[in-house]
Amino acid sequence: MIDLIKKFIKKSFPFRRILITMPSRILFGNTISLTNNIKPYFNKTFFFKKSDYKKTLPSSNNSEIKNLGFKKIKYNLNPKLIKTISDKFEKYILNDSVSKFSTDNKSRYLDSPLRYIPEINDLEILWKKDAEDFYAGNYRVHSYNGWRIYSDSSYKEKNKKFLYSNYWHFDDLPKNLLKVFILLSDNVDKNSGATRVIDVSTSKKLTRTFKFVDYALPSISTRMVDEYVYSNNKINYFGGNKGDIYICNTPRCLHAATIPENGKIRDLIQLELLPS
Ligand SMILES: [Fe+2]
Repeated sequence: MIDLIKKFIKKSFPFRRILITMPSRILFGNTISLTNNIKPYFNKTFFFKKSDYKKTLPSSNNSEIKNLGFKKIKYNLNPKLIKTISDKFEKYILNDSVSKFSTDNKSRYLDSPLRYIPEINDLEILWKKDAEDFYAGNYRVHSYNGWRIYSDSSYKEKNKKFLYSNYWHFDDLPKNLLKVFILLSDNVDKNSGATRVIDVSTSKKLTRTFKFVDYALPSISTRMVDEYVYSNNKINYFGGNKGDIYICNTPRCLHAATIPENGKIRDLIQLELLPS
């Protein structure tokens, strides 16, 4: 009997998720929790002062992140700085005392990379203005994470294995959270692990029309979302070279990791920003 109940709970998970996320799907066009959708509205800095602050903005790169949901910033600082960061990352991501393989051996995770690579903070000038514009004021770094992702034989199959967030999803985090992606590999593209992202309005449309069902039903979601975004040219790849930055409002943009093809890896440091 207990086994039967457990089986039922497991089998019904996707449907329970669809029911639970229905209000967010209809009201906000995403599948994050209602709390994460609503909480930012109580954040004085982000919302209440927004209109006042907007008046002081110049033409505004601001709208690119707010409206589209993401922005690329090309690395334009001293090449030595990014080399130092990249070399240190290479050293620590392979050091078993500070970095670990995932259980399937398809990624390695470096917790709190700032502890080992303090130079990361010297890159802040690249995204500072955009983040301040987005939050209409100050922000804080909520977390620092580092990853190396590896290839898997399923990279060319239709039904890819779930390895590292490689199914379409929204990050169930406060809606005003920004993620800063710092590429630490060269020649990152759709064949070598570039993150895929869909802009805010297309993400909303796909969610409200149930083309995006849920990450818990990946085969249906992948097929319907892929069909739409590829045929309508709505897919964006976070590609580039070492030091290139992407800022992305991941709770509002559907996104997914890409599995690199054979023999390729992709290194990345990721920061999470919130208003302060
Ligand atoms: Fe994600």
